[in-house]
Amino acid sequence: MKRPKLQVALDQNTLPEALGIATKAAPALDVVEAGTILQLQTGAEAIRCFRQAFPDKIIVSDTKCADAGGTVAHNSKVAGADWMTVICCATIPTMQAAKKEINDLQVELYQGWTWDDAQKWREIGIDQVVYHQSRDALLAGETWGEKDLNVVKRFIDMGFKVSVTGGLNADTIKLFKGVPVWTFIAGRAITGADDPLAAAREIRHEIDKYWGEE
Ligand code: 5RP
Repeated sequence: MKRPKLQVALDQNTLPEALGIATKAAPALDVVEAGTILQLQTGAEAIRCFRQAFPDKIIVSDTKCADAGGTVAHNSKVAGADWMTVICCATIPTMQAAKKEINDLQVELYQGWTWDDAQKWREIGIDQVVYHQSRDALLAGETWGEKDLNVVKRFIDMGFKVSVTGGLNADTIKLFKGVPVWTFIAGRAITGADDPLAAAREIRHEIDKYWGEE
């Protein structure tokens, strides 16, 4: 089973803070995400900056785009992003327009989607989804469990590469043992640590333990 990638979600309010954390954690990362909160503060400057700082890493533009997919994806791509997110309730034309402009489009799963929607995403050639426990749901007491694994596995059976995110840390990685997760996305577990590199290495160690070295 291929080893899942490790992605840091940078949701700081300022670019210097986000860049500082990413630079420290970079040796343990495969993917660097210009998070939604960061982009709302800085616009595409965050993507440009990460592209320049991390030329060999995958850069994700986490716009959670809901409309004007072609324009938003074009702007993300020009700034240097490899992947971009759209929200699951975006229309199929929005997703199609975005997909034309960016290397890979990821549908970010929150509420209100159906398995028929997922089938339509496959039919238009989308092969990535992000299974997300929102911060607000976690704050309201949600936890990761069997119900989440079952959804993740069903998406994988449909041919999707599935990234997972939302309150993940070194302790929660083992829940996914045996599941071919595409990417683990961790935000605060890395960005809130005194030593972001050590925190990222700890998560990576767990990934290597359960999925083996690539
Ligand atoms: C917020 C996000 C976050 O980037 C993602 O959930 C990871 O953050 P954390 O690990 O801190 O929950 O997409 O909209």
